[in-house]
Amino acid sequence: MLKFVVFALAVSASQAAVFSLGERNDGNLESSIKNYPYLLSVEYFGRHICSATIISSNYAVAASACFDYKGTGPFHVRAGSLELLSGGIVVKVKEVFKMGNDNDNKDRNLSVLELSEPLVFSETIQKIAIPRRCQVAPINVTAKSIGWGPTHLEGEVVFQSVDVFTVTRKECRRHYPTSTMTERMLCAKNTVCHDDYGGPLVYDNTLIGFYSWAKQCDPYSVYVDIAVVRDYITEIAGI
Ligand SMILES: *[C@@H]1O[C@H](CO)[C@@H](O)[C@H](O)[C@H]1NC(C)=O
Ligand SMILES: *[C@@H]1O[C@H](CO)[C@@H](O)[C@H](O)[C@H]1NC(C)=O
Repeated sequence: MLKFVVFALAVSASQAAVFSLGERNDGNLESSIKNYPYLLSVEYFGRHICSATIISSNYAVAASACFDYKGTGPFHVRAGSLELLSGGIVVKVKEVFKMGNDNDNKDRNLSVLELSEPLVFSETIQKIAIPRRCQVAPINVTAKSIGWGPTHLEGEVVFQSVDVFTVTRKECRRHYPTSTMTERMLCAKNTVCHDDYGGPLVYDNTLIGFYSWAKQCDPYSVYVDIAVVRDYITEIAGI
């Protein structure tokens, strides 16, 4: 279920190759952890369940749905690795703070994770800036959407980074007439089917959102708009 499926037909062969794991070792900077040092994999009983993003040495943000109905954990995050379940370091999550409850996730799909020990920042482990309060998410820009998923249906799950184009909620609403589109949602158009909950959406070296939901393989995906849920982040993480 937790995948980031490249829509094979929509992605050119060369693009798919750029993001395949095999290329990482021959100096392909695009797929080096040094380019995404803020990315975390959330692990639950030895499985990758979603992505999260480092916002300070003690806190990360993730999609709430990632933790739904899973009890109290233990959850761990792996930092400093683009490889699932190996490399980097593993830190236990001390507490998961959910903005909404399990039934209210669609609209308030944010969790703030408090780590049990501070991350030591390096070239491969680093926080990313988040927008200021009330900053308006940039529309009509190309942003990077990051996460893990199979390169094709049933394929090997690997790290991927794709360009998406941010659009207005109005455009998204036209596309999802039966879903409520709230101010906490940020919409983007893409060429992949992604489903890696919490996968960061980055523009101008800032975390503007993370992946929340979409219709299966639809070109429009909905992200949590970080600027709009900023107060909750401040309340929990103090930043
Ligand atoms: C919250 O996000 C997850 C994935 O990030 C998604 O599956 C879920 O549907 C969202 N919550 C709701 C109720 O939409
Ligand atoms: C985005 O681009 C469209 C089409 O070029 C334009 O109509 C719209 O006003 C732009 N929206 C924003 C918020 O820049």
